[in-house]
Amino acid sequence: MRIVKSPKKMQEICINLKNQGKVISFVPTMGYLHEGHLSLMRIAKKKSDILVVSIFVNPTQFGPKEDFKRYPRDLKRDKRLLKEIGCDFIFMPDIKDMYPKMYDTYVEVEDLTKILEGKSRPEHFKGVTTVVAKLFNIIQPDIAVFGQKDFQQAVVVKKMVKDLNLPVKIIIAPTVREKSGLALSSRNEYLSSEEKKQVTALYRSLKLSEKMIASGERDSRKIISEMRKLIQKKPKAKIDYISINDSESLKPLNKLKGNVVISLAVLIGKTRLIDNIKIRV
Ligand code: PAF
Repeated sequence: MRIVKSPKKMQEICINLKNQGKVISFVPTMGYLHEGHLSLMRIAKKKSDILVVSIFVNPTQFGPKEDFKRYPRDLKRDKRLLKEIGCDFIFMPDIKDMYPKMYDTYVEVEDLTKILEGKSRPEHFKGVTTVVAKLFNIIQPDIAVFGQKDFQQAVVVKKMVKDLNLPVKIIIAPTVREKSGLALSSRNEYLSSEEKKQVTALYRSLKLSEKMIASGERDSRKIISEMRKLIQKKPKAKIDYISINDSESLKPLNKLKGNVVISLAVLIGKTRLIDNIKIRV
């Protein structure tokens, strides 16, 4: 496993590998790896000759009041896990090399980023698509794997790839959960043990929506209202949004039909968590 810090060097290596006919897969991360990340890497490895993983806490996707500075980091552990999984290259650029002085170019998907996460975090997706486009240009992967946990991110990246004709196949892999149902996330690290107990209401509310749909409910207002009641029983929970949308266009749905995604963002204490499930109605 090689660790590469320079974007130019990483690009040279990848171009060389591609010229040799190697299939490159890529998993972008911000580090502090958990089983959710590793599951993406296992999928990526199976489909390629070379696995590249990036570790870069991307400043442009954090709002001014968000957790960029305190985002959890543990490079030593990340390197060990990546070695165990059989990663070929870790790309670990410095901020100054990704965004040098006078950096001035951004990639933005417009409509899909105005709702859900984009509404609460206005600059977030612009930062994500910019860094992902840069990483794709550096690594030039044939395949890139993203988690369904951040489903809007995956939909937005897919749209960017389509609209900009980028030659990369995007795979969306299932969310990995703790036994309690809590979706794995580096930000779970912020939760106290009491908050960890309360956070299980998020997945239970998603399962409740699944049950209501299975029993024939198609009115999203009724489903959302029951989910709200369940979550609001937890004193530390403050709901940002609960929404039911078409899983591709992300159009909000009043009557459920087709492929739908039920998603939520909830503050537990000071930690903002997101989760979702996809259902074919
Ligand atoms: O999902 C993440 O960890 C980040 O948004 C990503 C895709 C690595 C871009 O910084």
